[in-house]
Amino acid sequence: MSAFYREKVLSVQHWTDTLFSFRATRDSGFRFQNGQFAMIGLEVEGRPLLRAYSMASANHEEELEFFSIKVQDGPLTSKLQKIREGDTILVGRKATGTLIADNLIPGRRLLLLSTGTGLAPFASLIKDPDVYDRYDTIVLVHGCRQVSELAYGEDLVAKLRDDELFGPLLSEKLLYYPTVTREPFRNRGRITDLITSNQLFTDLHQGPLDVETDRVMMCGSPAMLEDLKQLFETRGFKEGSGNAPGHFVIEKAFVER
Ligand code: A2P
Repeated sequence: MSAFYREKVLSVQHWTDTLFSFRATRDSGFRFQNGQFAMIGLEVEGRPLLRAYSMASANHEEELEFFSIKVQDGPLTSKLQKIREGDTILVGRKATGTLIADNLIPGRRLLLLSTGTGLAPFASLIKDPDVYDRYDTIVLVHGCRQVSELAYGEDLVAKLRDDELFGPLLSEKLLYYPTVTREPFRNRGRITDLITSNQLFTDLHQGPLDVETDRVMMCGSPAMLEDLKQLFETRGFKEGSGNAPGHFVIEKAFVER
């Protein structure tokens, strides 16, 4: 048995000159938990060329979805950005990752903090009805340099608000907070600063950060994760894992240089 499924690309959407997403068929044997990642990629000169990608689709969906950067000289993304409907991608059989609901101890408010393509695992998690069962409020924060980079997230949330099943869940529980650092926008600033200053919670008409009730998942660049980890640890939050659930869990967003 091959280590990979060979899946067909069903559609590709280009959001900016550095961001795109695509959907592909999903083998019925491919199981994952919402928030997890798998190795995916292309066969190049007869060899698999793979990188870790979070599934942006939820595990109840028939198709797979991924959200990716494009790097012009990136070994994989320089090629992956050219895929078209009907092309074949490779999907590793084993999904893994720490951004799963069971790695957190029970709480009331879930903060999903992402920058760039770090949004992908949360695109999956906000399509999981179980997450809405576990929490009273889910705050989805997506930080980018430019407004145009928010488009995938804006579109995702808008579609879910129109969805028959998820519409009511989102309007009751989901607070979406896109923020931009390098040009004018209604929400401005880095996620770290927005939490430290309490601006995030004030803007959302929410109570301040509280270790008793807040649980946190974060996904972004190593620098953003390091700063957030420190911010939460100084406030008494403990990192969780599969063996020992905690107050927060962390995963690096996929990067290719
Ligand atoms: P900034 O524009 O101030 O650098 P990147 O594309 O570099 O990964 O950045 C994506 C978003 O993450 C940007 O808005 C960027 O803000 C922000 N960011 C970068 N580093 C950090 C950090 N250490 N803590 C919080 N946010 C960060």
